[in-house]
Amino acid sequence: MTEHVGVDLADGVLALTLSRPDKQNALTNAMYAELADQLAHAEIDDRVRVVLLQGAGRSFTAGNDLEEFAAVASGDDAAGPQEVQRFLGALSRASKPLVAAVHGRAVGIGTTMLLHCDLVYVADDALLSTPFVDLGLTPEAASSWLLPVRVGYARAYAMFALGQTIDGVTAAAWGLATAAVPASEVHAVARRAAEELTLRPAGALSATKALMRDVEALVDRMDQENRLFGERLHSVEAQAAFSNFLGRSAKN
Ligand code: COA
Repeated sequence: MTEHVGVDLADGVLALTLSRPDKQNALTNAMYAELADQLAHAEIDDRVRVVLLQGAGRSFTAGNDLEEFAAVASGDDAAGPQEVQRFLGALSRASKPLVAAVHGRAVGIGTTMLLHCDLVYVADDALLSTPFVDLGLTPEAASSWLLPVRVGYARAYAMFALGQTIDGVTAAAWGLATAAVPASEVHAVARRAAEELTLRPAGALSATKALMRDVEALVDRMDQENRLFGERLHSVEAQAAFSNFLGRSAKN
């Protein structure tokens, strides 16, 4: 349990709210663990028809906590990446519909997790980015496959390699999101869509989702990515990028 993930089940919708607003909802190992547990439980709880992912405060999430990345990179925290893998496994294998409401920043895994959601509503001024290369890292969450498929190779490469940030309107135009809506409405629109899904036949929904996603292939790609990512985390390039960010924060 962590206070940094809000959990609320109402009307068949399990809302999981990233809630570490002073750190732009940067995701910690404890948060991944809670999210993974909740997704696993949602699979077997008949009261849950749909899972809604959202963020509290200014942003959806600023991605993985860079302090924890730095700790793993320097060997301080042997448990590091495992919970994120459990979270990504649960996300990719989820048989029930996943809906996301995205506002503010969605960095790194904040964007790549959206590739596993079935309906994604973004604020039109949301900012989505996957700056893995700038961090000395490589893509995760099967995004090395899913992002080019979704938006085209050229756009995906610019997002990965140049750290190109796109706004919500662009994300919707590129097919990364279902729709872009005013920021003040994004949570309500996503919840309404989630509630609408709860009224549909659950068996047909999960069978349709299973047809649309090759889960085993996604998991294989994630395994490949994880091996590389683990190596990259310990690279001089990544350590320099983490120090740079953490040094900047320390000066503020
Ligand atoms: N890990 C750890 N802490 C983070 C974080 C992260 N990924 N992202 C933001 N924070 C912290 C900041 O250090 C700051 O903490 P402080 O107030 O104790 O100094 C706080 O959250 C607010 O962030 P700040 O940078 O001041 O907000 P901003 O609006 O100026 O910028 C971002 C927002 C998201 C652009 C910027 O925080 C950022 O680039 N974060 C890193 C994103 C990233 O690279 N994620 C990993 C992807 S794999």
